[in-house]
Amino acid sequence: MTISILVCFATRTGTTQAAAGVVAEALRGRGFEVELLPAREVRALERYNAVVLGAPLFMFHWHNDALQFLSRHQKSLAGRPVALFALGPVQSPINEQEWKDSREQFQKELAKFPWLAPAAVEVFGGKYDPASLRFPLKLFAGAAPASDIQDLAAVRAWAVSLAARLEPAVGGGC
Ligand SMILES: Cc1cc2nc3c(=O)[nH]c(=O)nc-3n(C[C@H](O)[C@H](O)[C@H](O)COP(=O)(O)O)c2cc1C
Repeated sequence: MTISILVCFATRTGTTQAAAGVVAEALRGRGFEVELLPAREVRALERYNAVVLGAPLFMFHWHNDALQFLSRHQKSLAGRPVALFALGPVQSPINEQEWKDSREQFQKELAKFPWLAPAAVEVFGGKYDPASLRFPLKLFAGAAPASDIQDLAAVRAWAVSLAARLEPAVGGGC
């Protein structure tokens, strides 16, 4: 049986889209059939055996498209393996407190969906470019310098580990 996986994402400045692309490619490399779509364009989940959803944290919240995706597809998601990731920390050199805060923000957002039992949850580093911001976000960002700690190798490694987890979950549940 070919296992079909939806990899969907929300993004503002493209970092999460790039990460989702790497997840999709890694899962295809493991023999899964993968569809890669913006979360807001997904209408139904019936044809997928499992779902991966990624989105950035902004202003202490997960991207609204991701939150809406979870609400909209609650019924279908409750019966499928789901893996979730967020992009968040951006400071270079690595700031452990920032990573802890991002992970807590993500957990807090996911706690809004008590029915959700994800097979995997992960936070990855992102990118920050003050030049891309307009008022009022520019105010929130303050004088922080541009940074890029996106680690696509870490994303790929997570996706490969996911493949090993999703296959038995799908085989047993669908
Ligand atoms: C105005 C602004 C607010 C942000 N707020 C948060 C936040 O509350 N928590 C966090 O972990 N990351 C935060 N970030 C970092 C973003 O998650 C990071 O830039 C990510 O790479 C953006 O993903 P995207 O390119 O897919 O939109 C913020 C970034 C900006 C520019």
